[in-house]
Amino acid sequence: MLRKAGYGDAASIQNLIRLYSETGKMLYRPLEEIEKHIGSFIVYESEGEIVGACSLKSDGDRSIEIRSLAVDPRYYRRGIGTALVLEAIEQAESGCSRERGEEQLFVFTYVVSLFQKLGFQIVEKSTLPAKVWNDCKYCLHSDKCDETAMVRPLIRQYIPAMSYVVSPAIVAEAI
Ligand SMILES: CC(C)(COP(=O)(O)OP(=O)(O)OC[C@H]1O[C@@H](n2cnc3c(N)ncnc32)[C@H](O)[C@@H]1OP(=O)(O)O)[C@@H](O)C(=O)NCCC(=O)NCCS
Repeated sequence: MLRKAGYGDAASIQNLIRLYSETGKMLYRPLEEIEKHIGSFIVYESEGEIVGACSLKSDGDRSIEIRSLAVDPRYYRRGIGTALVLEAIEQAESGCSRERGEEQLFVFTYVVSLFQKLGFQIVEKSTLPAKVWNDCKYCLHSDKCDETAMVRPLIRQYIPAMSYVVSPAIVAEAI
């Protein structure tokens, strides 16, 4: 089941992230930081256990980042990563603000095909706004980034979040 995260999920989210941050695949996030930004997390729960998570972060400029996408290895290749990213897209598109000028989602990833299937395109890292690089100083690979930068335009829409699939018909109506 896909749902918004609550405070009680913070430790489980951190455990998932730690699976990958310890090998440098993902940025470590302290528990206090996860708790502070718990409203930006989406989780996937199976039999009472958090087995997938991701979060959204606006760079305060024109871009929103999909971060900390992690799925428990026991649950790989069942579509959970895809469901989380689809929900993140939907939340970003229903919550983004023209006033704030947000116009694209971006991600740094090693799993290009997952994002390509969801409409993201590879871009040169240098085309992303400078603020995007704020977190890179905490990354083990900051001097030699081997992740791929990908972006997807935000299409503003006015439908409730937390459904699994973004309906092309609804998106078309909202444009
Ligand atoms: C990347 C990750 C979130 C994918 O989760 P998942 O639930 O297994 O993903 P899905 O089942 O939705 O996969 C959808 C598609 O993504 C691609 N994909 C998923 N895992 C992949 C992998 N390890 N290598 C290459 N492609 C992969 C495939 O195209 C897959 O479609 P297919 O199963 O029909 O071949 C998970 O492997 C993970 O947590 N990895 C470690 C952390 C990480 O790299 N996070 C991404 C940071 S942006």
